[in-house]
Amino acid sequence: MLNFEGKTVLVTGSTRGIGRAIAEEFAKYGANVIISGTVEEKAQEVAQELASKYGVKTLGVGMNVADSQSVEEAFKKIHSEFEGVDILVNNAGITRDTLFMRMKLEDWQKVLDVNLTGTFLVTKQVIRYMTKKRWGRIINISSVVGFTGNVGQVNYATTKAGLIGFTKSLAKELAPRNVLVNAVAPGFIETDMTATLKEEIKEEYKKQIPLGRFGKPEEVARVVLFLASPMADYITGETIHVNGGMY
Ligand code: NAI
Repeated sequence: MLNFEGKTVLVTGSTRGIGRAIAEEFAKYGANVIISGTVEEKAQEVAQELASKYGVKTLGVGMNVADSQSVEEAFKKIHSEFEGVDILVNNAGITRDTLFMRMKLEDWQKVLDVNLTGTFLVTKQVIRYMTKKRWGRIINISSVVGFTGNVGQVNYATTKAGLIGFTKSLAKELAPRNVLVNAVAPGFIETDMTATLKEEIKEEYKKQIPLGRFGKPEEVARVVLFLASPMADYITGETIHVNGGMY
């Protein structure tokens, strides 16, 4: 069932971490993948690596998802190489953690710009092709903290909860055209984003995870592939939690 030959997949923020793992899993199962990140050279490096490892067509583009002009320019490059994007994974995301009392408008705005407006801008670029083809898959990477809330993450949790409303509403709008929109909400995953956490905080978090460990990027990636595969053809507007049982 896992065969993505002939499909073009765009993963935002795929130069490292969860995004990179998602792109790699898709390449492993035959998809053509577009790697994107804020630094074009890094995206090209990852794209070349996956092309030579899996023999699929890849493209690396610089794209700051929070900047409409950067998104438009990236899509010009994408459309010169590919007819369109069949599967979009809105993965790019940032944190600017601080207690609400100390949170500046800039900390709030920056996180909203990347995590929410970025998803809006990139999704806008792909839906015309998907609806015309009457086939498309959009998967948004939310987070467990969008459901539980977290101290120091009012800005981030707001965006991750917001992505769920985005997912459910867009799923209803696009269902008649067979474009499915779902979300994956990871718990704590071993990436650069969580590498900065202090050891004692990590140990505290682990106590809240029934499986007793952080997840691996590949463990999130495989659920994204499931949602993009024919095994999930009747699922839309849904969120799958990947968190070792913590929520
Ligand atoms: P990461 O920090 O390792 O990677 C983030 C990626 O997004 C990088 O490739 C970065 O270049 C890219 N990015 C950042 N700002 C961007 C922008 N303005 N435009 C385009 N790309 C941009 O993060 P990680 O851990 O891999 O997270 C990926 C996604 O998963 C994020 O949306 C994050 O919120 C979410 N997530 C992560 C969890 C974790 O424990 N690591 C848990 C739950 C959700």
